[in-house]
Amino acid sequence: MKNVVVVGSQWGDEGKGKIVDWLSSEADVVIRFQGGHNAGHTLVIDGITYKLRLLPSGIVRKNKISVIGNGVVVDPWAFLEEIKEIKSKGVEISEKNLILSEAANLILPFHREMDEIREDTAGKAKIGTTRRGIGPAYEDKVGRRSIRVMDLISEENLNHRLETVLMHHNAIRKGLGKEIFQKDQLKKELLEIAPEILKYSQPVWKKIDEFKQQKKKILFEGAQGILLDVDHGTYPFVTSSNTVASSAATGSGCGPNSINYVLGITKAYTTRVGEGPFPTELTDSIGEQLGQKGKEFGTVTSRKRRCGWFDGVLVRQTIKISGIDGIALTKLDVLDELDEIKICIAYKLDGKKIDYLPAAVDDQLKVIPIYKTFKGWKSSTKGIKNFNDLPINAKNYVSELAKFIETKISSISTSPERNDTILIEDPFNN
Ligand code: GDP
Ligand code: IMO
Ligand code: MG
Repeated sequence: MKNVVVVGSQWGDEGKGKIVDWLSSEADVVIRFQGGHNAGHTLVIDGITYKLRLLPSGIVRKNKISVIGNGVVVDPWAFLEEIKEIKSKGVEISEKNLILSEAANLILPFHREMDEIREDTAGKAKIGTTRRGIGPAYEDKVGRRSIRVMDLISEENLNHRLETVLMHHNAIRKGLGKEIFQKDQLKKELLEIAPEILKYSQPVWKKIDEFKQQKKKILFEGAQGILLDVDHGTYPFVTSSNTVASSAATGSGCGPNSINYVLGITKAYTTRVGEGPFPTELTDSIGEQLGQKGKEFGTVTSRKRRCGWFDGVLVRQTIKISGIDGIALTKLDVLDELDEIKICIAYKLDGKKIDYLPAAVDDQLKVIPIYKTFKGWKSSTKGIKNFNDLPINAKNYVSELAKFIETKISSISTSPERNDTILIEDPFNN
């Protein structure tokens, strides 16, 4: 039996949603294991677009089970809103096909407010977060004062948990001259929605054990990208969770030996949304062209994504950090019209050539990319489903890119549509 983990190998928005949806034709279960509704995963199926934030991308397929693991931070109102929104597009969602971990930590309104307060007062040091409360919610989780899905069962328990967490938040709010957050109104609102939330709540580790016994195929769906990982990313310009593949085990409740194949979703160029280092960023007309052709606007916040050349140094690094077995190369078609295309193959730092991104943010801001230039193919690859149908220069770009990052290409995506994908190696049967 094969279980596959999908992770983003860059700064997010690599096209994970499209690939997870495409692969989920083969999977029985799709599990989100980290992040929250900071994610925005887009699926395009027969011309209809679905934008998923918290719900696993398997939700749109019939007879699949979607799971939100303990590692995810869940805004309960955003969760219910998204279910409503996706249901309105004709997708069936009930406790039969959607499971929410009883141990998932909640994002509450004071987390969102704290995210906003910090971003608004940080000046130049702002992260450019999605302002969804992700960071503050994870802080409360490791601070052991968080409220989890299971805490909604008893009013007495909820009251006590809210007192604990608000003591912490109100001390900070007072120090910043902000209004005190009132417990009773929030408790009332949480108790009102509790039955709707608890209906999906289950011990996910136990369900995964059952799935394994039933020989079901599991697809773990990562959010964000490895360069946004709190340990391995461009810290402090990162998200507050571990986005690497090994997080799938802790974020759902199974061992690392449950993971058989790690698929890294990789854009054929690079984008980043929010602040932070980006060595191959293009602030010229080519960057603009990539943004326009690639429709590089944030799914969650509608912000314009920064665009740049493919950074082979970074992707080779994230492949090693996350144990990526193969990559799904996406958005190749966005490069169709370019005369020439570049790949960053090394950096210069203080006059010295280096082959990795240093950990210090000051160095990350200083590195100068060294490029290898490829001839463009100047013809459409949109919708191509067979490797041999790609123009010769596109084949060459893909092959050289794979050689440089020292990893196999598992698939190539040539449009947003589900089936416009070239399959080279099936992660479930490899
Ligand atoms: P995710 O966060 O990794 O799931 O990616 P997003 O959904 O935020 O952003 C990827 C965007 O690229 C979405 O609008 C997708 O519909 C689109 N997309 C995915 N694959 C391709 C592709 O191969 N070609 C083109 N042109 N667009 C793609
Ligand atoms: P998907 O799953 C791209 C970025 C934010 C910001 C940083 C921290 O769609 O790839 P946060 O709100 O998480 O505290 O913000 O991380 N970020 C993403 N960028 N794609 C995402 O998700 C992202 N989720 C968070 O822009 O720079
Ligand atoms: Mg996205």
